[in-house]
Amino acid sequence: MKQFKEEVALLLEKYLGDAMSPEEIREAIEVPKYAEKGDVAFPCFKLAKSMRKNPALIAKELAETIEDERFDVVCENAYLNFFVKKERFARIVVSTILEEGEYYGASDIGKDKTMLVEYSSANISKELHFGHIRGIMIGSALYKLSKFLGYNAVAINHLGDYGINFGKIITAYKHWGDDKDIEERGVRALLDLYVKFEKFSKRDEKYMEEARQWFHKLEVENDQEAYDLWSWFKKISLEEYNRVYAMLGAEFDSFDGEAFYSDKMPAVHKELEEKNLLFYEDGMELIDLSDYNLTNVIVTTSAGTSLYITRDIACAIYRKNHYDFYQNVYVVGSEQRLHFQQLRAILHKMGHEWWERCIHVDHGLIMLKDGKLSSREGGVIFLEDVIKMALQKTLELIDQKNPNLEDKEVVAKQVGLGAIAYKELSTSRIKDYIFDWDEALSFEGETGPYLQYANVRAHSLLERGDVALRDIDYSLLTEEASVLLIRELSSFDEVLESALEKFEPAILSRYLMSIAKLFNKFYQQVSVITEDKEATKAKLALVKATSQVLENGMKLINMEAPKKM
Ligand code: ARG
Repeated sequence: MKQFKEEVALLLEKYLGDAMSPEEIREAIEVPKYAEKGDVAFPCFKLAKSMRKNPALIAKELAETIEDERFDVVCENAYLNFFVKKERFARIVVSTILEEGEYYGASDIGKDKTMLVEYSSANISKELHFGHIRGIMIGSALYKLSKFLGYNAVAINHLGDYGINFGKIITAYKHWGDDKDIEERGVRALLDLYVKFEKFSKRDEKYMEEARQWFHKLEVENDQEAYDLWSWFKKISLEEYNRVYAMLGAEFDSFDGEAFYSDKMPAVHKELEEKNLLFYEDGMELIDLSDYNLTNVIVTTSAGTSLYITRDIACAIYRKNHYDFYQNVYVVGSEQRLHFQQLRAILHKMGHEWWERCIHVDHGLIMLKDGKLSSREGGVIFLEDVIKMALQKTLELIDQKNPNLEDKEVVAKQVGLGAIAYKELSTSRIKDYIFDWDEALSFEGETGPYLQYANVRAHSLLERGDVALRDIDYSLLTEEASVLLIRELSSFDEVLESALEKFEPAILSRYLMSIAKLFNKFYQQVSVITEDKEATKAKLALVKATSQVLENGMKLINMEAPKKM
């Protein structure tokens, strides 16, 4: 629709003369929600002052004078509604999609700009549980979207690989660890050790004391044994995480986590001191944030150690120097809102003008419908197990509905994971919500499988039609269902931009759903393959274009597109 909006803008510039500036015209232009109100609309209210006339009258007069073969212009009250001529609309939209194929929708608005998307940021030695899926899905989608829009996108997993937890886990390992068990069961074994530590340290102080000593060895003394164990636990954790990330289609360019910043702390400390930003209380160092209406922040403990936020200050500065980012996006749950407000305030106080480009993209919680996010002994449901269950459930469904389907396992994976991805990414990110398997896997309603199935229908039509999509007569696409579909397809580029601008993948997911719905209507109302060869070809071109947009979009929200299901 961008192209048509620009055409209307240029046309109005010509007719309005000095009455409105080119920028004002572009700002005022709208895309009406309903097709009967036109494809592009222009409200005349603003003109009333400079033209000294009633806006409805201005609209009426303009509608009468504007003459252009590309549009029909109609006035409705104070609005000018522009209808793109049907044949031209269909030709431009469909042929552009067919020409650009998998690059349709891509752009270069992000050219020469680095977009950092930090997400997942898991705490090593701990499991990825089901609750983590939200951040993974949102982050991964925003990363893919940034790339598609031409940004130099960098996905960062800011690993939680620093802190007293590692003292605890080493202590537990020294008491009860079993190498073979850890090699075999990975994070599950580490988690058991952790749980055991918590149990024992409640009864006896000595365990906590040992944990502190191990942490000190690790962070301050550069002790080889402590370091080797930490590295091993990290390796074990990353093996599991990478397995899960691969299943979900999540990628990372960097795993620089909290420990990476430990040697960058003295410089931060020096900067804070030089800029006179520290005050002292009970042996601690703090920053006063009362000007920002935020609670003060401790940056150094009385033991002289840094904290989570101190490492984040170092990290932001490092990222600016190293990547010179345009935006530095943190996809992290909304429970850390205060933390990121404080971080931004501190960066502002330090005089870093780029503080505003550090953005907390927060999201709500997810729960399973049967409420079981945790299982035995305070343990939790592993994300990997949930994914496997999704595949199992989907396979059972396929066995019932379409038992002779080829490559059932592959399709089950695409559909099962697609169901999760769609469910995650169609809910506004800020909302908490309850995940229900039966709902997510259903073919009815707004679900991943519904979206995939629309595309499968498109493919089966294309297979049946089997004609080369050349020399198409676009004037044959006149049915209302076709016109509405074309109109919706034309907004893909703007939808992508707005989804990234608002860091809201749901904008794209819901758009794809509306395409799928319009396509299903088209499928029911229009006979695609008929005796009429030319009409068949034109309709198949639209089918192909629809499928292309669905597939380009699904890829960005971490969904695969099976050709049969
Ligand atoms: N590892 C942290 C947690 O699980 C999240 C890290 C968020 N990112 C950051 N730069 N602080 O709570």
